[in-house]
Amino acid sequence: MTKTALITGISGQDGAYLARLLVDKGYKVYGALRRGAGLNTGRLEELGVLDEIELLSFELLEYANIARALDQAKPDEIYNLAAQSFVGTSFDQPIYTSEVDGLGVTRMLEVLRTAGGTTRFYQASTSEMFGKVHEVPQRETTPFYPRSPYAVAKLYAHWMVVNYRESYGMYAASGLLFNHESPLRGTEFVTRKVTLALARIALGEQELLSVGNVDAERDWGFAGDYVDGMWRMLQQTAADDYVLATGRTTKVRDFISASAKALDMDLEWTGEGSQAKAIDRKSGKIIVDVDPQFFRPAEVDLLLGDASKAKSVLGWKPRVDLDELTNMMVKADYDRVKNRTLRF
Ligand code: NAP
Ligand code: GDD
Repeated sequence: MTKTALITGISGQDGAYLARLLVDKGYKVYGALRRGAGLNTGRLEELGVLDEIELLSFELLEYANIARALDQAKPDEIYNLAAQSFVGTSFDQPIYTSEVDGLGVTRMLEVLRTAGGTTRFYQASTSEMFGKVHEVPQRETTPFYPRSPYAVAKLYAHWMVVNYRESYGMYAASGLLFNHESPLRGTEFVTRKVTLALARIALGEQELLSVGNVDAERDWGFAGDYVDGMWRMLQQTAADDYVLATGRTTKVRDFISASAKALDMDLEWTGEGSQAKAIDRKSGKIIVDVDPQFFRPAEVDLLLGDASKAKSVLGWKPRVDLDELTNMMVKADYDRVKNRTLRF
């Protein structure tokens, strides 16, 4: 029998990859989209899946709107990917972020509980909840120490999912996902900001890339692999929480150097902290500098995940490594800039 899924956050990076995956698996897919000034479906178009899904009007701040969307779709599975997902913005908009990323999840759980039924629920939790990390690598049992309003809101939501699972026996799973990137990543996140800026620099359309803390370390994987892990989490006998990560961590400055190398630049770094700079040895030009506006009031210095549980229980493992991911992102942005086809 055809399964039905509802994906919130359908216009985002993960929404597009998950829609593609579920359509390919034969699901009927509803995409929950919030209203904007124009249609925000570029990522779905890029993956060729826009015409294969049905869009519903959806806003996480509106209880009745959530109830209507669920009633319309009557999904077997819900993937709650919608969120104010940028950590930096959460310091400027802590209340809005808490409303959407924290209470928004409780609204969804309440609608589901009230409706009864057997819908399975996936919540997009995050490695940001480990924050000022208590152990390396981080796993499901590592204590949390959130370092931003975003991470605090996500941690509240995470515990609500656990609470609804334990209180009402709902199938509600939470994915503790480490950073995952792709050519569809939003341009404010550091990997995409870097690949787009360096592509522009290589094509003579930009002089300089200004970033923040180049010594932060992240465990970066490919979004296409991670949505497969989300799906696996909803196919188990019982709901649980799982870390998805690659088990390799890389400094921001090393990601920048690798991206530059893919564009035939050879970066030499000098200085530390806000004085850090990178010069292209070939042209002699300063290509990267640090602008303090991109520092955060509190930073997550190091993330490195241990996905052993997902590997043994879900049979999940990442397939694309960081070198391949870097090349994929650099090439996509180079082509978009060169061919003037940049849409997001
Ligand atoms: P993204 O590209 O920023 O997409 C976020 C989506 O949420 C967009 O479709 C956005 O719609 C929607 N949204 C925002 N506020 C909303 C609201 N009030 N009501 C309804 N929809 C709303 O994020 P992503 O990278 O795909 O991440 C997906 C989820 O995983 C997020 O919850 C994120 O916090 C979480 N996560 C991501 C990562 C990662 O590395 N990517 C890691 C761990 C967890 P608009 O297009 O209208 O803005
Ligand atoms: N965005 C950004 N821009 N980050 C920068 C910059 C810059 O110019 N310079 C340095 N960084 C550093 C940030 O301070 C952070 O330490 C790291 O690069 C990664 O930043 P982001 O790419 O913005 O991602 P994030 O780790 O804060 O959050 C992402 O991953 C989380 C999972 O760990 C988001 O996708 C979250 O939604 C997700 O939960």
